[in-house]
Amino acid sequence: MTLVLKVDPERPDPEPIARAAAVIRAGGLVAFPTETVYGLGANALDPEAVAGIFRAKDRPAYDPLIVHLLDATVLPDVVSQVPDVALELIARFWPGPLTLVLPRGPQVPTQVTAGGDTVAVRVPSHPVARALLAAAQVPIAAPSANRFGRVSPTCAEHVLADLDGRIDLLLDGGSTQVGVESTVLSLAGSIATILRPGGVSLEALAEALGEVQVAQEIPVEGEVLLSPGTTSKHYAPHAIVVLYRGGREAVLERMRQDAVQRVDHGDTVGLLLVDEDLSAFGALPVRRASLGTVSTMEEVAQQLYAALRTLDQADVSVIMVRDFGPEGLGLAIRDRLTRAAAGRVIVVTEDAA
Ligand code: TXA
Ligand code: MG
Repeated sequence: MTLVLKVDPERPDPEPIARAAAVIRAGGLVAFPTETVYGLGANALDPEAVAGIFRAKDRPAYDPLIVHLLDATVLPDVVSQVPDVALELIARFWPGPLTLVLPRGPQVPTQVTAGGDTVAVRVPSHPVARALLAAAQVPIAAPSANRFGRVSPTCAEHVLADLDGRIDLLLDGGSTQVGVESTVLSLAGSIATILRPGGVSLEALAEALGEVQVAQEIPVEGEVLLSPGTTSKHYAPHAIVVLYRGGREAVLERMRQDAVQRVDHGDTVGLLLVDEDLSAFGALPVRRASLGTVSTMEEVAQQLYAALRTLDQADVSVIMVRDFGPEGLGLAIRDRLTRAAAGRVIVVTEDAA
């Protein structure tokens, strides 16, 4: 059984926090809210506890974990060196959704880093995460609190859907703010490299650093691209996801045509839509889930995973969604949708419409 304790997201009660901290110190597993998504935490310095995270998630041992810290003053406990460029980023973006990949300190068990000589670290801003770190007084290793390969949880119900009975305790602090995971930035090479776009935008990092590159923007060529299977299925619901890229008008027209065709074939179709696109699909008999207004990517990011889960629970066989461009949080949204689509990306050119 997983014990669920409600906690005020703004001013967490000391009592549930103390219980959760005791579980962490005893080598147990605690799911807790961060500003991005819920994390599944264990004492980062306890190899047995860390092994429990991998078991609970069915996560392969080759995928390293992020170590969460209360503040940058405890960095020397987990990293062997902090380059000057990291200090600037820390001053600007911590606490917050930026994860830095730095040289591993000798105290960090190899399970955390999957045997690698770097460790990913971040200082979360969520009051519950911070209270837990303060009470536990150890660094907390925490991946997103979902089964491996599935959609990250943005509320307590999502955590239970994946992990009920597999973890000791869940701190329920309501829905998370950012909605997509932290930006993972490597400072190992000569140019800072975004390994995973996330809550801190490329633009914000470029402003701070001057130069920054994105590691693995998933290539898009031709109309239907990438054989499914070449991209690892990740951030994925149970339904098939199809992502449409291109100009808004042409994309919406193509989505409508494809939806009509799928409905005719007897598919149950789900549409992941911003409010501005609702009217493009008229009275088509499809499930719709709202991503809020397209005018703020913050809102789309915040709603993205819950909307994916809603469509999944409605048992649709296919989820259709369009790309929202690379600006701001749009890049992280594109990254997650491309992975969820596992290669099913349709690029619509204007003249094809
Ligand atoms: O917002 C977040 O980052 C959330 C919350 C809970 O903090 N955590 C999260 O953890 O998303 P996870 O494990 O689901 O994703 C961490 C990512 C993985 O893609 C992992 O491969 C990468 O960070 N990563 C971890 N350590 C790394 C390292 N030493 N070098 C390169 N990538 C690393
Ligand atoms: Mg994850």
